[in-house]
Amino acid sequence: MTTINILTITQPDDWHLHLRDGEALKAVLPDSARQFARAIVMPNLRPPVSSTALAVAYRQRILAALPSDLNFEPLMTLYLTDNTRAEEIRTAVASGIVHGVKFYPAGATTNSDSGVTDLARCKLALAEMERLGLPLLLHAEVTDKHVDVFDRERVFIERHMVTLIKDYPALKVVFEHITTKDAADFVLQSPSNVAATITAHHLLMNRNDMFVGGIKPHHYCLPILKREEHRQALLRVATSGNAKFFLGTDSAPHAKHTKEAACGCAGMYTAHAAMELYAEAFDSVGELDKLEGFASFYGADFYGLPRNTGRIQLHRQNWTVSASLPFAGDSIIPLRAGQTIAWKMQSL
Ligand code: DOR
Ligand code: ZN
Repeated sequence: MTTINILTITQPDDWHLHLRDGEALKAVLPDSARQFARAIVMPNLRPPVSSTALAVAYRQRILAALPSDLNFEPLMTLYLTDNTRAEEIRTAVASGIVHGVKFYPAGATTNSDSGVTDLARCKLALAEMERLGLPLLLHAEVTDKHVDVFDRERVFIERHMVTLIKDYPALKVVFEHITTKDAADFVLQSPSNVAATITAHHLLMNRNDMFVGGIKPHHYCLPILKREEHRQALLRVATSGNAKFFLGTDSAPHAKHTKEAACGCAGMYTAHAAMELYAEAFDSVGELDKLEGFASFYGADFYGLPRNTGRIQLHRQNWTVSASLPFAGDSIIPLRAGQTIAWKMQSL
């Protein structure tokens, strides 16, 4: 096998990203826009982006925060609630700027209190999304406090995914940030309207990484890191060339002090080095030639959007990540802070 030292690929997109708002948005947006042409922008702001009008306004704030030397297209999403009406779905599709509807089970994660209490309450909205081809993006974890935190994704599949896919057979579904072999197998066995995003951190780390040498709050995210066998299953499907699996960083910035706390927030910041981290993961199994499909083609194809035409280059080159990054008068600790990454991106 010849070693690849320079990899040139079509410009990628990020199909799952948290950009926040205000000064925080200004701090993190350039990191994503340097690498990605487009990103599916998560709607879990306070208040949530639950209507097309709010999505239009948020999109304008993102574009206003974008440095003039960068091109980037935010692909907006709506936050599904028990009260989302079919009419709102029609408005969203007609707007041309909304590309998905995000489902958070109420209480599952950051800013999810307005999430769905029971999918049965969303029948009309889901039927309209199925009819109009608007994808449902799922944070697929049960919130049942009796279910072990490491089992919440697997139990969601049993309790909700199976029936959802049976009840809405033509609904486009993205199983977001899958973390288990169970989720990978479920997507593999499902029809082609069911896809999944995979983060770089779930490809690179297992649950030991939260505890080696002491507790690591910057490695805490939801869904939580799982056992090594699950990481390996994710790596297998991500690098398999199967178009159902594509890139979604789930980069989720939180100020340092809100993670290094008695009750720390969930989320890892990976946008500063997203493509480099994915390159490391794919390189670890000798599958760098599969990165372009995963990062630049399959997501666009699934969402029915054109593939990008620009290109980026990744060089095999060690560099050291900053120990901390500025974040709206505060700081964020990026993934690999103070440590090295084996690949460096250059835009062309
Ligand atoms: O770790 C996470 N952080 N998981 C989520 O689902 C939300 C995200 C955030 O917004 O911080
Ligand atoms: Zn997320």
